[in-house]
Amino acid sequence: MKDGVLEIGGLPVTQITGEYGTPLYIYDGGMVEERYKRLREVLPSFEVFYSMKANPSLALIGLLRELGAGSEIASGGELFLAKEVGYDPLDIVFAGPGKSDSELEDAIMSGIFAINVESMRELERVAHLARLVGIPARVALRVNTAKGLTKTGGGSAGPLHERMAGGPSKFGIDEEKLERLAASWDKRTIEIVGIHVYTASQILHIDEIVENARRTASVARRVEEVTGAPVAAIDFGGGFGVPHYEDENPLDMVELGARIEEIFESFSKRGDTRLIVELGRYLVSECGIFVTRVLELKESRGDRFVITDGGINQFVRPALMKVNHEARVVNKLDSPAETTAKAGGPLCTPIDITSSEIRVPDDIALDDLVGIFNAGAYGYSMSPQLFLSHPTPGEVLVLDGKIIQARKRGRFKDLLLNQEPLPGSF
Ligand SMILES: Cc1ncc(COP(=O)(O)O)c(C=O)c1O
Repeated sequence: MKDGVLEIGGLPVTQITGEYGTPLYIYDGGMVEERYKRLREVLPSFEVFYSMKANPSLALIGLLRELGAGSEIASGGELFLAKEVGYDPLDIVFAGPGKSDSELEDAIMSGIFAINVESMRELERVAHLARLVGIPARVALRVNTAKGLTKTGGGSAGPLHERMAGGPSKFGIDEEKLERLAASWDKRTIEIVGIHVYTASQILHIDEIVENARRTASVARRVEEVTGAPVAAIDFGGGFGVPHYEDENPLDMVELGARIEEIFESFSKRGDTRLIVELGRYLVSECGIFVTRVLELKESRGDRFVITDGGINQFVRPALMKVNHEARVVNKLDSPAETTAKAGGPLCTPIDITSSEIRVPDDIALDDLVGIFNAGAYGYSMSPQLFLSHPTPGEVLVLDGKIIQARKRGRFKDLLLNQEPLPGSF
């Protein structure tokens, strides 16, 4: 912060929005770099794969590739982007509970490291497609462990809505069905390279992550017994969370790293087992801020409202995931701010509230900038951008003191893209 103005990557937010307008996603590339390096430091036996679903912006996935990350993808579109940016196919894994034949075929033909199969039928489909294209497929078994975790967030956010394993789940093969695999899998077309366990996202409890690591290591041993061969890769998921509430603390990465390394020591000592951690939000969430401009200020029956040019059509998480994202007036950070208000965008729906309690500087005025923090993950791409036909926001990456335009702001004419008018209407 300088003179009350937030700085991102060393540059004042007012300079960045002055050049690129609002609403605008701003990503701090230096912070992404720090996060990646930190992970490599505390988990030296692990390869870090970036979960592209968190933010598929080309500039970010390119930066992570340059840093050395692999790519965890969940659709044919993400495979296309990973290839476009130049990820080595052997550094790509493909998870997801519903993959179409054409997506699977594309993955096999591209020679990616592993298709993470999530059911016995999917394993059969992959074998069938591999036979058709004449290329054996590398597969990792995504396993739905018998037990899952009991809590995710660290404080106020305790809900389990981001839980994906333990109990009935649309993700992965139930652990107790693994034995059946030995009889059913076609060894001529399928190479089982390893296992994948993904328990949940947004975990802020080290003990929960460590328990998950233990379960994963034991699943790997079990799969080795079933297949009769050592696993070539263990993808332990991750789920490392970021704080959203005042009573949540960031993970102690040194402790976390040491405990995970210990659990997988017998595998890392072998030297030929790839150990993978796949993370989205831990790498990019806190590096991002969504910046909007104040269009209107109003008071209604005792409540105050700050209305901005960007809303939940462009940053949906507060409404959809019911998660708190700190918001501040980022060009007046040192003004006294005694009162609070609700902040929301221009949409004609009452759910368009991006912050239910923003501290409002006493001298707030039209054209001030409202920044919504922790917006680097599941922001731009998760939001219903077409709702109310506002142009899509721009995205910039600040790196080494320079601003890189990652995505141009949308134009009205983009709204016509792929549409056909009623014949004869104009
Ligand atoms: C299989 C899988 N891997 C990785 C992730 C990334 O999660 P996060 O962004 O919380 O790290 C997800 C999120 O849904 C996922 O489903």
